[in-house]
Amino acid sequence: MTVDNLSPKNSVEMTESSIFSRFLRKKSQDELINSSKSGLNRSLSAFDLVVLGVGAVIGAGIFALSGTAAVGGAGHIGAGPALVVSLIFAALACSFSALCYAEFAAMIPVAGSAFTYTYATLGELAAWFIGWMLVLEYLIGNIAVVSSWSGYLVNFLRGFEGTLPGFITNPPVWLVSNYSAAVEKYQKEGIIKFREFLEAKYAASGLNGERIGELFDPANFDPAMFNPAIFENLGFDSQLLLNPGSHIPHLGPIPISIDLPAVFMMLAITFFLYIGIKESAKMTFVMVLIKTLVILLFIGVGAVYINPENWTPFAPNGFKGIFVGAYLMFFAYIGFDAVSTAAEETKNPQKDMPIGIIVSLIICTLLYIGVVGTLTGIVPLNEINTHAPIAAAMTSVDQDWVAFLISVGALTGLSSVLLVLQLGGTRILYAMSRDKLLPDSFSKVHEKYKTPHINTVLVGAMVILGTLLLDINAAAELCNIGTLTAFMLVCAGVRILRKVDPGRKRPFKTPLVPLVPILGILTCLALIVLGLPTVKTLVIFGVWITIGMIFYLNYGYKRTSQAFYGS
Ligand code: ALA
Repeated sequence: MTVDNLSPKNSVEMTESSIFSRFLRKKSQDELINSSKSGLNRSLSAFDLVVLGVGAVIGAGIFALSGTAAVGGAGHIGAGPALVVSLIFAALACSFSALCYAEFAAMIPVAGSAFTYTYATLGELAAWFIGWMLVLEYLIGNIAVVSSWSGYLVNFLRGFEGTLPGFITNPPVWLVSNYSAAVEKYQKEGIIKFREFLEAKYAASGLNGERIGELFDPANFDPAMFNPAIFENLGFDSQLLLNPGSHIPHLGPIPISIDLPAVFMMLAITFFLYIGIKESAKMTFVMVLIKTLVILLFIGVGAVYINPENWTPFAPNGFKGIFVGAYLMFFAYIGFDAVSTAAEETKNPQKDMPIGIIVSLIICTLLYIGVVGTLTGIVPLNEINTHAPIAAAMTSVDQDWVAFLISVGALTGLSSVLLVLQLGGTRILYAMSRDKLLPDSFSKVHEKYKTPHINTVLVGAMVILGTLLLDINAAAELCNIGTLTAFMLVCAGVRILRKVDPGRKRPFKTPLVPLVPILGILTCLALIVLGLPTVKTLVIFGVWITIGMIFYLNYGYKRTSQAFYGS
């Protein structure tokens, strides 16, 4: 479906050609539905959609970010054991949005997800905006997921110490992290060394150094408080602590720090999508099964080691910590909306789509609460690992074999998230290009492989570039703000469409409209306002929106105007 197929004569939106009405021009839902003759097979059932949902959802959020969200770090405070409350809040925000998504997905079962829904309801400008947000969700989201994949790979390979060569089991930090992550890791190493140094000094003088561990918590430690002379007087080599960047090799002024495993993984994913290898339903099922089983294994084995004392203080940073945790953990739920992008391939989208979205959300929430409750119950807060927390928790209770299985499960699970998100990203760009908001080359299909190969390569290249610039936390924060904005627009869209087109057949109706859409908007907004940890994210988000608007006004708007009005 392209805008040129719309007949201006029959469309109310096109009787006026003022700039404003052009921003608001819409695509009719009937035409959207009729035009989606993409030749895709309608083969997915509700069960397949739940599998797809869980496959897209469980990933870096729970396997990696849960550590930082509980402990804090990278410029924000942690929720502590109260992260379970954060999870419930994030799930609540998602479920209101999910109910709205489901109404749209069942009513307009075509590829393009929220971008397409918005085009049909709020008009072109909002559709462009939401498409731009979805690019942020899928592309930037994958930067976080692939960074976490790399973290688990490093953790997994460490298990082969003594068997494999040292440069594989213990690679230099600057070859498995980008610059900012490498600096953070080196500094953390410095803090731990300083702590051990002090503990040894205390022990040597017969003093009790028990509280030193608490004082030198890497999440709150600020080396700027220390005068370098103090370290010198103590005889401690403070280079790692005060100047962590100096451990990274430089090419002239440019530091060389690359997350190589992440780069190679993205190259592989891009290659698979280029030649059109999608996860088959069977393969997705196996991957989902593996990650669900390792999560249950973690909860089951971990339950034995829970020490309820670790749950106090329950919320060390109060409500602020809980909201910051909720904002970060929102990332763990991203992906359920990707289910709606499979609408064209669903047997009975009207019935199955809502089931697929909502059931996968419920399953994930329950699993997450189990994982976080167990994690904070077995490991004291300041000892929780922030790169591979779930596997490291098992190592800390000497369950190395479970840690090994968890690493394998995480690597598998994260790979399936990577595939789904990357595919989602290319589909959104494809839909936007099909509607002339992006260059035609984005929807060009490879002659042999029948894939949108140009945009597949571009998306891969952008994610690889992103891994050089953003670490997992920064990427997740940015991805979240884009997704939350998209969710709010979807909620608004449901409300608006009920008003402007009340008679339309709605196979699934969001309950309690307008309450649910309003609650969806308010909870998403609350997550942003109360939980957004860093100003840097807001600034990058603002820049992203500005670039998007400039591009739309100078490109998409002109092209679609040309197609509609010839001017
Ligand atoms: N929800 C997905 C994850 O946590 C994006 O990796």
